[in-house]
Formats: sequence, structure tokens, C-alpha cells
Amino acid sequence: MQSNGILGGIRSGEAIVRGRAVLRPFNLLMEGGASLHLLEKTTSSRTEPVENAMYRFFSGKKVRIPKIFYNTFDAAAEEGVLLMEDLAPTHRNIADWNAPLAAGALTDLLGLIAEFHACGWGQADLPLPEHLGSLGNYMQHLNYLERDYAYFRQHCAFRLGAEEHALYEHCLRRLQEHAGRHIDRIHARHHTAYIHGDLNACNVLYPAVPGALPVLIDLEAVRTGLCSEDLVMLFVHDFHHGEAQTMAILQQYYDILHAGLVQTYPWEQFMEDMRWSLMEGLFFPAKLLAHEGVQDEELAWKSIEACRALLEATG
Ligand SMILES: Nc1ncnc2c1ncn2[C@@H]1O[C@H](COP(=O)(O)OP(=O)(O)O)[C@@H](O)[C@H]1O
Ligand SMILES: [Mg+2]
Repeated sequence: MQSNGILGGIRSGEAIVRGRAVLRPFNLLMEGGASLHLLEKTTSSRTEPVENAMYRFFSGKKVRIPKIFYNTFDAAAEEGVLLMEDLAPTHRNIADWNAPLAAGALTDLLGLIAEFHACGWGQADLPLPEHLGSLGNYMQHLNYLERDYAYFRQHCAFRLGAEEHALYEHCLRRLQEHAGRHIDRIHARHHTAYIHGDLNACNVLYPAVPGALPVLIDLEAVRTGLCSEDLVMLFVHDFHHGEAQTMAILQQYYDILHAGLVQTYPWEQFMEDMRWSLMEGLFFPAKLLAHEGVQDEELAWKSIEACRALLEATG
């Protein structure tokens, strides 16, 4: 670019270290004064990071993710390198938002997520995550949930009543009883999606300028799963809207998703998937406490209320 007179210079900003990843902004100063904002994300890894592979998969598909200018795995340095468009000048992440979300923002968000899910619908190119690899693995995963719950029951700093504990136990039994069917269905890639896998509010960038659209970032946890897993994470654990509005959100998401799928995804199946993900999601606060010592009463109540309400509302 420099030899073609396009580039005046490169200015790099402060690097931010986040776990295995380092993010560093770059400004490419163009001749004439304009500049191009880029962000480099390097991730140390022995093999190509999932995120690099997923940016390759999703780039060019009908989904809004940052533009990627360079995507490689450097085997010698053992790191994945991504050079992407830095959306900081036009977007903010939605971590500061609170429920209820404004109608227009919600519609844009649901469109973004539904388009993302439609891209890998029913596809089998990604290896399955370990806990879904076999019925044995999934049962083991449920044993871990049970163990986390036992710890949570003993150590959580807030009071849950007998009814709440009965709900945890009921859900665990239901997951165990139907595990075989769940794994068979996942293995057949029957209505599976490539889900984002870490769809918390920090991983959605929303436009701060008129006319721009929201964007999904951070593809390092993308995996095969149920679309409902992402929805539970964003619309129960982060932005819980209560029973009636959550049902309206699910309906709106479903209509957009369905319009983008070649095959029929029956509403009843979607509701069954929601129930499954809500039951699994119920154990998220227990996992957080058992593994990271996080006492999050609000999160526990959101997941209990959503599970209770939607298990009833959806059959
Ligand atoms: N392309 C981007 N444009 C603007 N900001 C970004 C971009 N990618 C990441 N960020 C910011 O950096 C933060 C961390 O990046 P992310 O890819 O989510 O890494 P991590 O895996 O550490 O969560 C994000 O929450 C967001 O605020
Ligand atoms: Mg992130």
C-alpha cells in the first residue's frame, strides 16, 4: 500500500491483553488525511484457533461480522492472527444496556442472530464439542452439572426455597432421561446451528452513528449446538424481559430465522429446544459459583424465573 502511495503511515495503539488473546488497534494513515482503523487480534494456540477458522467460514456469508483483512495461523509462532476492521469509531458494545431493549434495537439484534444461525444450519463440517461427542460424554457433563449444583446448594450466599431446589432436581432428571434423544439428534445435525457460543452483551457491537447496523464479534466459542443456547444466554442471563415479552422476542427471532432457512424448523421443535437450553442454563449460576466463586443472585433468579415460566408457557 505504501509503495502505491495509498498509505501515509501506520500508527499503532496500546495493546490489550485478554487471556490468550492480545488486541492492538492500528491506524493506517492514507494519503490525503483519511485513516483506516484496524484491530489486530492474536491468539496463542498450538493449532489454528477456532476463531480464525470461523471468520473464514462466516466471511462472505449473509451475516454482519467485522471485515477481515488478514487471517492466518502462524504455526512457528503458535498464534492465530486476525486483522479486522476496528468498529470503535462507529460502534459500542451493548454491555451497558438494560432490559427492556427498545423495539428497533431488538429487531436489529434478532435479525443479526437469526442470520448468524442460518449460516451453519444442519451443517456437519465443524467437529462436535466434547460434551456432545457421545451419550457417555453428555451424561458425564450432566454429572458435572449435578456436582456443581450440590456445591451451589451448600455454598450459595442467598436463600433459595424448597420449590427452587425441586426445580433444579426436576430439570436435571429431565435432561438425564432425554439425553439419548438429544445426542442422537445432535449427531444427525437435525436442526442444529453453528451457534456463537459466547453470546453475552460484550460480544455484540451496536452502532453509535445513524444508519449503521449491529455486528457480532468474538467467534472463538463458535460450535455446533441449538440456536436456543445463544438465545438463553443473551435474553435470559443478560437481558431478561419477563415471560410475555420473552415469548414475543422468540416469535420475532423465529420468523426471521425461518425466512432464511431452506428447510422447515417447526415451532414446536424450537419450543422444545428452548426448554432444553433453559434447563441447561439453569445450572449456569451453579457452575459460576463452583468454578469461579461468583455469587450472582440476580442471575440465579433470572434463570429460575425464565425456566419456570417458559417450561409452563411452552408445554
Ligand atoms: N472489531 C472490533 N471493533 C471494535 N471493538 C472490538 C472489536 N473486536 C473486539 N472489540 C472490543 O474488544 C473487546 C474484546 O474483544 P473480543 O474479541 O470479544 O475478545 P475476548 O475473547 O477477550 O472477549 C470487545 O468486547 C470489544 O469491546
Ligand atoms: Mg469477548
